[in-house]
Amino acid sequence: MGRIALKKCQTWRANRDILCAAKMVRPARLIDVPRIQEIINSHAERGRMLFKNFAQLYENIRDFAVYEYGGDVVGCVALGIVWSDMAEIRSLAVDEDFIGRGIGRSLVEWCVEDARRLGVRKLMSLTYEQGFFEKLGFGVVEKETLPLKVWSECVRCPKNLACDEIAMVRELFDVPQIDAPVAIPTPRGVSIPVLPAEYD
Ligand SMILES: CC(C)(COP(=O)(O)OP(=O)(O)OC[C@H]1O[C@@H](n2cnc3c(N)ncnc32)[C@H](O)[C@@H]1OP(=O)(O)O)[C@@H](O)C(=O)NCCC(=O)NCCS
Repeated sequence: MGRIALKKCQTWRANRDILCAAKMVRPARLIDVPRIQEIINSHAERGRMLFKNFAQLYENIRDFAVYEYGGDVVGCVALGIVWSDMAEIRSLAVDEDFIGRGIGRSLVEWCVEDARRLGVRKLMSLTYEQGFFEKLGFGVVEKETLPLKVWSECVRCPKNLACDEIAMVRELFDVPQIDAPVAIPTPRGVSIPVLPAEYD
């Protein structure tokens, strides 16, 4: 092979390697759902999060972002709006083989940017990963300070009556507070098997 042809071939290979290793967070698409489910349910099997079925994922796909590495989805997160001033980070999960590489941080940062875009001032999470969320500027709060609406998912949780998740909040002080109705606070005791219809 001539020197010019060899050089071209090397450049093509280098570009291909860069493209293959491209990393990014992007909004999820319907085609990502099976992979999202695989990642979430692999952690759900270890009791770290709730199982998700296809119906739940398709229905909420617009809330989701995925982390893509070399063309493969290796992490996911969803940002669900709770109230006028609050959104919840849900379904945050990183493929076991990719843990500890900054992917969880990138996914939470995507949520922070999306919250800013929407004008949401507070981000919350119900989690067992206190250390991780503290690194990202979240602090532990009493569960009773969260709106009652947050607990609507709990009816699907096997730990409903003995919830041991930690409630954490991060306030985005650069997002203006808006004048809006106040959410109904959570009564003391927190375990709510079925929400009364008026709170739906
Ligand atoms: C929690 C999880 C999303 C973290 O993702 P990750 O990609 O491994 O985290 P990152 O590499 O982005 O970590 C960001 C920082 O948090 C730290 N961190 C990560 N997990 C931590 C933990 N359990 N305790 C304390 N610190 C932690 C990292 O050391 C890193 O700190 P640094 O920036 O100073 O180096 C991932 O472990 C996971 O998918 N766990 C199972 C599912 C789960 O529990 N999801 C949360 C549901 S709310």
